[in-house]
Amino acid sequence: MNACIRAVVRTAVFNNIEITGIMHGYDGMIQEEFIPLDTKSVANIIHRGGTLLKTARSAAFLTKEGMNKAKNNLQKNKIDGVIAIGGDGTFKGAVEFSTLCSIPFVGCPGTIDNDLVGTDFTIGYDTAINTVVDAVDKIRDTAESHERLFFIEVMGRDAGLIALRSGIGSGAEAILISEAETDFNKLISHLKDGRKNKTSKIVIVSEQQGTGSVLKIAERVKQEIPSYDIRVSVLGHIQRGGNPTCMDRVNASRMGFSAVEALQAGKKNVMIGIINNKIEYTPFEKATKHLEELHPDLIKMMRILAL
Ligand code: F6P
Repeated sequence: MNACIRAVVRTAVFNNIEITGIMHGYDGMIQEEFIPLDTKSVANIIHRGGTLLKTARSAAFLTKEGMNKAKNNLQKNKIDGVIAIGGDGTFKGAVEFSTLCSIPFVGCPGTIDNDLVGTDFTIGYDTAINTVVDAVDKIRDTAESHERLFFIEVMGRDAGLIALRSGIGSGAEAILISEAETDFNKLISHLKDGRKNKTSKIVIVSEQQGTGSVLKIAERVKQEIPSYDIRVSVLGHIQRGGNPTCMDRVNASRMGFSAVEALQAGKKNVMIGIINNKIEYTPFEKATKHLEELHPDLIKMMRILAL
């Protein structure tokens, strides 16, 4: 997100547009946490994870009172347009807000889950999957040396895209995601009968399977195959931070740059996305979560390569 903020600020400055940062998302709009930004304030942030503007989930923004305060603060600070980085909740909030306030909003997709309609990749996803692959490579060394079976839980909220790509990229023996349900008996026979000489096994489990389910799955497998030395690892929030990959930095920069251009061109209530390497604009109403839309080729390949 920092790379996106940097691009927004520098593109605005280049175009002689005054630029204000709003701290803590919609909450900051309500509390009037506005800070002036210039080229220098975004120096040396492109390589940093997270966001210098901080972020917060705002319950107050969902109320009429909160929205009215936000509107008054935007007007008081002479804001002519807003660029919001976030997921479908951020865009839903902007649509609701537009019934009350005519200041145009343009969005940039920021979530590690990559589950938004209107872009091939969201900001943070590439970094998250590379972090997972790096962690699994390291866990693989223990799995290999001790001849163990590891169940590794990864993030994604309701989407299995982090699990799918990182599982393929780390050569996992199985990937458990809701979009391509795995029959438990098949998983057992796959783990038992898969290449006999393979000494380590890794199963990537998406957190969308439910809280604690990675442990339950591991326990069930242990009952079926007691000879296996099984371990469970939950990767957690390391997936949400760290130095962004080059791909994320470039995509985020393109999106931030295009968001300023979009506002200048009079666009409003659209999310900037990159589809087939081209900037596209998706109305906020359509930039919702896409579930069950995983590429069928990837699913087919995942099943064949894991054998
Ligand atoms: O939506 C992004 C995400 O990282 C999900 O993958 C994860 O389920 C959730 O946020 C974690 O949220 P929190 O940091 O509030 O626990």
